[in-house]
Amino acid sequence: MKIAVFVSGGGTNLQNIIDAVESGYLSNVEISMVMTDRDCYAIERSLDKDIRTYVLDRKTFSEDAEHNLIDEDIDLIVLAGFLTILSPEFTEKWGSKMINIHPSLLPKYGGKGMYGSKVHQAILEAQESISGATVHFVTAGVDEGEIITQGTFEIEPGDQIADLQRKVAEVESKILVQAIKQLSEA
Ligand code: GRF
Repeated sequence: MKIAVFVSGGGTNLQNIIDAVESGYLSNVEISMVMTDRDCYAIERSLDKDIRTYVLDRKTFSEDAEHNLIDEDIDLIVLAGFLTILSPEFTEKWGSKMINIHPSLLPKYGGKGMYGSKVHQAILEAQESISGATVHFVTAGVDEGEIITQGTFEIEPGDQIADLQRKVAEVESKILVQAIKQLSEA
């Protein structure tokens, strides 16, 4: 299965996918390309592995990305910390082949504006005792598509945003590659 990974940040999740391919856990997955909407550390991780890497303009991302996806016959798009909202046309066309990872237990703490530390801030303010991460299919409604898998962790008294980020990253490292494996074997 050929995958394209879209990134906007540090690329921890991209690295997890790279590692899972290299270890053989994702035995029939090939990372054909990485696409990003900004200058970010994930680019270094991608170039380090000689993966074809595209930096695209946010405003025309959906159209520009599509040419590359079609040319390479991509089977699955993985949004791994990707921050541009894709056009409705794009999500309509690719949604059944596109998954996203979100750092909360959707449907809680999802939607426009709920990304990065804002998610964890809201979770702490609501005094939740459990949080987690979700892998879901992508639809035009932000963070609303069908859930593929979720993982949870406990929030302890005194936990700060950084603690939640660390715990969510650990959960994400498991569930994203699991979801990709599941889809690659379907
Ligand atoms: C992850 O928490 C992901 O759920 C969210 O952005 C973060 C990405 O981090 N959408 P990274 O770029 O994979 O390091």
